[in-house]
Amino acid sequence: MTCRICAARTREVLHLGSSPPANWLKVAPEEEQESYPLVLEWCASCLNVQLRDTLPAEVLYRDYLYVTPQSATLEAHYAALVSYLVGAGLIDERAFVVEVGSNIGHFLRHLAGTVRRSLGVDPARQIADQATRSGIPTVPEFFNRQTASLIVAEYGNAELVVARHCLAHNASPHEMLAAASTLMAEDGHLLIENAYVINTIEYGEFDQVYHEHMFYYSLSAMRALLRLHGMRVVDVLRAPVHGGSIVFLAARGLDGPVSHRVDECLTAESRYLNIEALKQFASGAQQTARHLRALVLALHRQGRLIHAYGATAKGATLLNYTGITRDVIPYCVDSTPLKQGRFLPMSNIEIIPEGSAEHGRPDFYLLTAWNYQEEIIAKVRASGNTTSRFIVPIPVVRVL
Ligand code: TMP
Repeated sequence: MTCRICAARTREVLHLGSSPPANWLKVAPEEEQESYPLVLEWCASCLNVQLRDTLPAEVLYRDYLYVTPQSATLEAHYAALVSYLVGAGLIDERAFVVEVGSNIGHFLRHLAGTVRRSLGVDPARQIADQATRSGIPTVPEFFNRQTASLIVAEYGNAELVVARHCLAHNASPHEMLAAASTLMAEDGHLLIENAYVINTIEYGEFDQVYHEHMFYYSLSAMRALLRLHGMRVVDVLRAPVHGGSIVFLAARGLDGPVSHRVDECLTAESRYLNIEALKQFASGAQQTARHLRALVLALHRQGRLIHAYGATAKGATLLNYTGITRDVIPYCVDSTPLKQGRFLPMSNIEIIPEGSAEHGRPDFYLLTAWNYQEEIIAKVRASGNTTSRFIVPIPVVRVL
């Protein structure tokens, strides 16, 4: 196929079979769902890694069920980001900040008192409405040039546009970047945060591959992409969230000052951004799935009760690629009220609230939300459960 950044020919590097979109949580196990392939491709020209088959954003996000969890790890990350932005002089009390894909507004809440005005934009109607009602004004729309122009007409240009974990969630990043350019003040900045493909490859996080993740960004690919929109990456930061993330700070103009971190990061990327590393990533996925399946089936045969922890999109890929269903893991614990009472796609595992006593105390939790490992284990122990053990699937299958 072709690269959706630079239009060069791509090469297939990983095939995880077909499944329904990870956040299509079923109302009943009998519900029929359409499956779509999960295939990763590599572009040797601009070093982009992308999903081959993409679904329209309208289908995926209008009735979205992902609500940003209340998490100490995320809160610490938001505070660090704000302190970086203030320290670098990118925002102050005169700034207008717009966050795209703002969900229920956790990040924007951290800007209160620091900037003049902040505004969210999120197409998930129910979630945008919840944010607005809780005091974070949120435009319930997709972020495109039209939405950006309406925002400019009403509030003026923004000193900072933030797009955390959403630029990769659309088949074409070009419309969102054109919209960001419309919205940004002349000397404004764009902050893009994404799961970092180098961490995905390095830690064998094949479960980051799901239909919402249409791109797996590196600095190399991001630079190529931004260049097409007349922008350059001026700084990069790494963040310990969502399995390892990268934050790109961009500004208008192809020439101009750039942090030394940009060159250092580009050099470090070359180790993982090549076809050999991607092939190894693909064989690692097979190996992890084989180990996990063998472990879970063996425990099940021994009569052990296993629940999953975290109805994550990653979990859906992990379970479906591994072939684990509710026959061996009947329940998945999750803190999101919108998800509870529903069933994971394909595996048909029922989602139950945290601390729900009626389904028994499991001997093992499979940590499908392994990216919150420490805080989830601490939460389970603090609830008085000192006996359940934890199966951590990534980077290699371990039992804690
Ligand atoms: P995420 O990895 O995409 O952020 O999804 C995390 C999921 O895990 C989300 O559905 C909420 C759930 N979760 C819990 O159930 N308990 C917790 O303590 C945390 C941090 C997350």
